Amino acid sequence: MSKVLVISGHPNLEASYTNKVILEQAEKNVHNVEVRRLDTLYPDYRINIEAEQQALLNADVIVLQFPFYWYSVPALLKKWIDDVFSYNFAYGSKGDKLKGKDFLLSFTIGGPSESYEPLGYNHFSIEQLMMPLQQTAYLAGMNFQKPLYTHGMVFIPGVYNTQEDVETKAMEHANTLVSRIDALVDSTENRVRKLVKEWFAKLDVLPENGDYFLENLSANIAWFAPEGEFNGHAGFNDWYQTVRSMFKPDCQHIVEDVKVFENGSDIKAELRIRLIAETFDGESINLLVNETWNLAVQDSKLVITRYLVEPLQG
Ligand SMILES: Cc1cc2nc3c(=O)[nH]c(=O)nc-3n(C[C@H](O)[C@H](O)[C@H](O)COP(=O)(O)O)c2cc1C
Repeated sequence: MSKVLVISGHPNLEASYTNKVILEQAEKNVHNVEVRRLDTLYPDYRINIEAEQQALLNADVIVLQFPFYWYSVPALLKKWIDDVFSYNFAYGSKGDKLKGKDFLLSFTIGGPSESYEPLGYNHFSIEQLMMPLQQTAYLAGMNFQKPLYTHGMVFIPGVYNTQEDVETKAMEHANTLVSRIDALVDSTENRVRKLVKEWFAKLDVLPENGDYFLENLSANIAWFAPEGEFNGHAGFNDWYQTVRSMFKPDCQHIVEDVKVFENGSDIKAELRIRLIAETFDGESINLLVNETWNLAVQDSKLVITRYLVEPLQG
C-alpha cells in the first residue's frame, strides 16, 4: 500500500478551528498515513532536515495542509520547503528524490471565493497565487495535483462566521481530501510504481523460490531479455534459473527512472535500471538497461504481460 505523508504547516494548531479538524480526519481515515505537525516538531523553526527528507522518501503521496496566510503558505511551512527541498534532493543533477511523487496542496482560506476574481478585492485567482508552489513541484519532478481549498474558513467570534459553520466546512473539506488521497493511492501509476519498487527489491535477493515473480506475471507472459526469449510461467522459470546460476544473490537494481503511460486498458512502463552485480565467475557487472513492461489488470490485480530488457551501449 502506498504511503501518504501529510505535512501540517499551521503555526499553532491549538488555536485552529479548521486545519485541526481536517488533520484529525485525515489521520483517522487515510490508510498508511503519517501526519507531521510542524508547529509541535519545530516550535523554534529549526527544521530537522534529515528527518523530513526521510519522511518524504518513504511517501508516494505528499500533502501540504495549511491555512492560507498572506496569499501564500505560513512562514513555518515556507521555511520547511526552503530547508528540506535542498540541492541534490529536490533539484540539481542528483536531485531526483521527489520525482514521480504526487503532491497535493490542501488549504483553508479566510476570504470568500468572489474576492479572488479580477474585480474582487483580492484580484487574483487562488490558482494564480499558488503558481510558485506549482512550479516548485514541477522543478522537483512531482505530479502536481489540482489544489483542494475551502473559502470562508476564518472564525473571529462576533465578526466572521460561527465556529459551527467553519467546523462543518472543515469536515466537508476533510471528506473530499480523504477521497482525493484514496484515488491517488489507487491510481494505476502509483500501483505500477509500487510494483516496480517491490519487483527489483526481490530481484536484488534472487530468492530460490520465484513465486513472487510468477504472481505478478500473466500466465502467457512474453519475456525478451539478453539471455533469450521466454514464454509463459515455465519460460520465466527457465530465465530465472539461468540468472540465478549466473549472478550471486544480493545484487543491486537501482531504479533510475520510471515513466508510466496509460491508454484505455493498455498500461506501459518505461524503466531505466542500473544493475550492479557479481557473477559466480568473479566478474563485476555494472550495466544500464532500458526495460519496457506492458501491464494489464486481471481480476483487479495488476500483472505484467510483456517484459522487454534492452542493455544500453557504452
Ligand atoms: C497571518 C494571517 C494571514 C492571513 N492571510 C490571509 C490571506 O491572505 N487571504 C485570506 O483569504 N485569508 C487569510 N487569512 C485567514 C486564514 O486563511 C484563516 O484564518 C485560516 O485559514 C483558518 O484556519 P484555522 O482555523 O486552521 O486557523 C490569514 C490569517 C492570518 C492569521
